[in-house]
Amino acid sequence: MRQVNLGIIGGGTVGGGVYQAVGRNGALMASRLGIGLRVVGMAVRDLKKKRAVVIPRSILTTDWAAVVNNPKVDLVVELMGGTTIARQVVLAALRLGKPVVTANKALLSAHGEELFEAAQRHGTNLYYEASVAGGIPIIKVLREGLIGNRITRLYGIVNGTCNYILTRMKQEGADFADVLADAQRLGYAETPPDLDIDGHDAAHKIGILASLAHGFWVNPKKIYVEGIRSVSAQDIAIASHLGYTIKLLGIVKRAASARSIQVSVYPSLVPNSHVLASVNGVFNAVYVRGDVVGDTLYYGRGAGQDATASAVLSDLADAALDLKCGTRSRIPPFVPHERDGDVSPIAEVCCRYYLRLSVVDRPGTLAKIAAILAEAKIGISSVVQPENRDGDSVPLILMTHDATNAAMSKALAKIAKLNVVKAAPVMVRVENFE
Ligand code: NAP
Ligand code: HSE
Repeated sequence: MRQVNLGIIGGGTVGGGVYQAVGRNGALMASRLGIGLRVVGMAVRDLKKKRAVVIPRSILTTDWAAVVNNPKVDLVVELMGGTTIARQVVLAALRLGKPVVTANKALLSAHGEELFEAAQRHGTNLYYEASVAGGIPIIKVLREGLIGNRITRLYGIVNGTCNYILTRMKQEGADFADVLADAQRLGYAETPPDLDIDGHDAAHKIGILASLAHGFWVNPKKIYVEGIRSVSAQDIAIASHLGYTIKLLGIVKRAASARSIQVSVYPSLVPNSHVLASVNGVFNAVYVRGDVVGDTLYYGRGAGQDATASAVLSDLADAALDLKCGTRSRIPPFVPHERDGDVSPIAEVCCRYYLRLSVVDRPGTLAKIAAILAEAKIGISSVVQPENRDGDSVPLILMTHDATNAAMSKALAKIAKLNVVKAAPVMVRVENFE
């Protein structure tokens, strides 16, 4: 049987999980592929570190280049994270014509174009199933399963850490900082976790999905990103009362008339009747609408050792088959085909809004706010004033009809200056999935 030797760079949560999974299911994969997988080298930063998954000392080194350059290593697996040394690792392996498997969405977001081009130039491949949505095989879905579709909508809950935090805040009234510490302990969070909670990890992933779905490498600087730091327990509770759940949502969509696409990540009110509202905990889900297939949904664990290892195994199978058959994969991992693709500025994006204002409870307050919204041509769809007082102020909740982000931010700047408004207005966008 053909043997494929793996060199793994990184032996942390994911690297340890892949080592363990190859041991557990290597024989099963061999019986399915006719290829044996064996880890012959693994680079880590600290040889003395105590590891949850025990790696034999004989294969460990701190010298990543020795692993990549080892002539016995057929296939390189980059699981160290970061964008500087990881880029050098991937480029070094590709230059040697060795296929690379990575879980590193930050790296792909920053350098994807260069890395795919290098793979092409050196006659090899770069695989990245584990980079988006943990164990959900969403890259394969877009690359192969839906290849005959134009993707008109894609919505993703793609950060396990944020979904875990928002879920526990909603279900248990748990404190943000405590839940984040749990997510770190469980191996869900990035290092540093700001990448998760400020929305950047989700933006890396949604950029990769948008690029695959639309055939051009999305410039990460053009992705509008807001994280979950400002989502309060009060807004989660009010949204719930109104029939919504707050989720950190990645959105990729093309408005009927637009040439460019919306690519964004921000907390959104999701109607409880929509399936994405019930995606809880560390689970991720990606909802994809194709012009031929219609609506499809993919669901699974979005972070953690085993879910991610499962996605890496799937790439190992593809890369090992390339080596065995002497062919590059049937459908290359990324094919740029849209020369004029671009991303719409957030100012042009249209959606509904939830507004929470802290106002003085006296006649004429609502009229002043409504006048500003009317002047901006923003329709109000509902108004609620819960009967709880916060000092001299009361909360006023407004739900609006569709408006551009430019119109809403202009209106909010005026509303914030009203003398009846006592604190900075809170705005959360509402997604209606049309
Ligand atoms: P991690 O637990 O921090 O592991 C990183 C590993 O890389 C560690 O073993 C570390 O060595 C090693 N390393 C760092 N710098 C190195 C260097 N210069 N030379 C050699 N080894 C080096 O991170 P992780 O959670 O496994 O994540 C790895 C990658 O997978 C990241 O790109 C992450 O975004 C991605 N990912 C993670 C998850 C998840 O749920 N954790 C899911 C999907 C994708 P030491 O152990 O000695 O410190
Ligand atoms: N930190 C990431 C998350 C890991 O929480 O989703 C999986 O990519």
